[in-house]
Amino acid sequence: MKHTHSQAIPQSSHFLRSSVSTALALCLTGAIAQQPKAATDPWMDPALPPEQRAHLAVQAMTLDEKIQLVHGSGWGVLRAGAPVLPGHNGGAGFVPGIPRLHIPDINLADSAVGARMAARESRYATLLPSVLGLAATWDPEAGFLYGDVIGRELRDQGYNMSIGGGANLMREPRNGRNFEYAGEDPLLAGVEVGNLIRGVQSNHIMGDLKHYALNDQETDRNTLNVLLGHREMRETDLLAFEIANRIGQPTAVMCSYNRIEGDYACENDYTLNKVLKHDFGFKGFVLSDWNGTHSTVKAALAGLDMEQPGTVYFGEPLKHAVESGEVPAARLDDMVTRILRSLFVSGAVDDLPARRVVDPFRGRKDAAHIAEEGIVLLQNRDAALPLSKTQTGLIAVIGSHADVGVLSGGGSAQVDSPGGNAINIKEGASVWGRPVYFPSAPLEFIRQKTSQSTVQFDSGDDPKAAAALAAKAAVAIVFVHQWMSEGQDAATLSLPEKQDALVEAVASANKKTVVVLESGGPVSMPWAPRVSAILAAWYPGIGGGESIANLLFGDVNPSGKLPATFARQETDLPNPHVPGLTEKTTNNRMDAGGDAAARAARNITVDYRPEGLKVGYKWFQTEGKTPLFAFGHGLSYTTFAYSGLKVDKIKAAVTFRLQNTGDRAGDEVAQVYVTLPSSTGESFRRLVGWQRVTLAAHESKTVSITPTPELLSTFDEPSDTWKRPAGTYQVEVGAASDDLRLKATVNLR
Ligand code: BGC
Repeated sequence: MKHTHSQAIPQSSHFLRSSVSTALALCLTGAIAQQPKAATDPWMDPALPPEQRAHLAVQAMTLDEKIQLVHGSGWGVLRAGAPVLPGHNGGAGFVPGIPRLHIPDINLADSAVGARMAARESRYATLLPSVLGLAATWDPEAGFLYGDVIGRELRDQGYNMSIGGGANLMREPRNGRNFEYAGEDPLLAGVEVGNLIRGVQSNHIMGDLKHYALNDQETDRNTLNVLLGHREMRETDLLAFEIANRIGQPTAVMCSYNRIEGDYACENDYTLNKVLKHDFGFKGFVLSDWNGTHSTVKAALAGLDMEQPGTVYFGEPLKHAVESGEVPAARLDDMVTRILRSLFVSGAVDDLPARRVVDPFRGRKDAAHIAEEGIVLLQNRDAALPLSKTQTGLIAVIGSHADVGVLSGGGSAQVDSPGGNAINIKEGASVWGRPVYFPSAPLEFIRQKTSQSTVQFDSGDDPKAAAALAAKAAVAIVFVHQWMSEGQDAATLSLPEKQDALVEAVASANKKTVVVLESGGPVSMPWAPRVSAILAAWYPGIGGGESIANLLFGDVNPSGKLPATFARQETDLPNPHVPGLTEKTTNNRMDAGGDAAARAARNITVDYRPEGLKVGYKWFQTEGKTPLFAFGHGLSYTTFAYSGLKVDKIKAAVTFRLQNTGDRAGDEVAQVYVTLPSSTGESFRRLVGWQRVTLAAHESKTVSITPTPELLSTFDEPSDTWKRPAGTYQVEVGAASDDLRLKATVNLR
């Protein structure tokens, strides 16, 4: 066991900031008034299986106690003036425990890319690179490390549940939350997020997988209805969740805001009961996204186990529905058993969080390691990079506040910057809707790398001034950014704030122009042919400035690969516009701003059926469109050679030789794609496996990769099962989906 046993979660009275609602107050008083029994209750025996412990504890509970566990306690610290109960730890959600039965409070923390809302409690939390940046590592160990950072810092802060774990597939490259998700491929997303959840839960913190499912855009997310066939769901979006669930065994799944084939995701019998609980064998509990519950009986019968954040449907109304028999008492017991089982299996009961000061140095080191594996070298003409440390002359650094810090993503994934927003420290805690920079200034680290040259900064606000500086320089490094946030999508793939014009101006003034992109996802780059090198740094996390400098100067050899296709232009996408997005609908904020009634009345449908199975690179291949940068693409400062492909005739496992043919050590992410037999009606390649291989200069290794079984199968709707078709499979191995070096066919029976 990683952590020592400790005292109960401290109940700090200062959290009681206003009076609680009558119902909740009564409920709580009842619970607190009872003296805790000695821990001799049978369910407190850690030697018993979690299922049995949960079952025993449920039998000891009153109806009111059961109801108390299946909903949150209100908006709490998320909304000014909302009641904050004793024991609430300052996070997005709180479910009071039952002291007489030794059931601890559940303190839920938003923590997609690090613990949210730390500043208001004077705490520190590590900003990790975006989850998309993690996916770009293609490294399952980095996934585990990512979750480990989140889990240990939540523990240190007194939480026992994470509500991060986003695994929505990138069907919409302009989705405001893509930075919280792991890209467009179900296997890559499932493996990275599954390992992330393992990492969280290794700290005895309950982990979560969200937003289930098909919540692939923010515009009208609270009402939109997604249309997609069952086969297509199972092989795309739901497959990412299936794999993440299998690997991560999350204790919870958060259902999403949108509707799926007519029913809201939090009252959808097909996706919750049938697919998640029955087919995936998910044993944890389903909690709604915040205000994502829409009914009592329907939701309870469809598989929702916990309403968040309040009591509208699963408070008194659920109690009455159970008393009247509309919701069977056994179903309420099932909800509570699932929640208790999660508490027991995670260690949250036996190993309560022990507060301590978060270790910022360890967090930064881990964040930087992940960033350095995930930053992608997209282009490197004439070996412009790495820059020489003995470079003479002027280095011009331009744009995106590179003199003070690096950008982070917004919304409920926002981590607070130490010392306040680096571009406006007076703000202190982050403010919803405003971009937050973290104090890791690329300029400072670039300066540290060079002893022979002068480094000068220009804000980039005036392209002419930036070009004038670039014209005098030996090399111009332009930082460009795209700030993204929950609650809004990007209207286009273009960089905002006229940054395309800035890059064009700098590139025409200096032949050696390097672009560093900090973005939430793919953007278009009309200037790509006119610049030397491009680095995609995503949102690089708290060590970002130094990581970027390490890559620019070759202290780290780039090894990240794209987890999503970068299109040249909108017209190449399945939807040239984000469905429903007009200049009037860019704001979906729940607390203020957007016009909720107008959105509800719009009731939009997002029809994913034309795109169907062909998400991301599969769409580009079948439509015959050439992307700007393909899925899986990413360059290195060394070169790799692939040879000697062998394919196993039973499992289609592949073996090949990979050699580093350069003078510099490096990692290569070798990828295996398969095209299924034509009888499936599919004519695109699918990623079926990969391996990140570390090779010293000139070293070679034999690599073996066994495809994940679902990826060699299709989901057969009539029989409701996965079936592996007999026939000829085309196997391709290489460095990217558009750079396949080895090919073979294999007949599988
Ligand atoms: C988001 C969730 C988040 C919740 C609590 C919702 O708006 O969609 O991802 O966990 O708020 O902050």
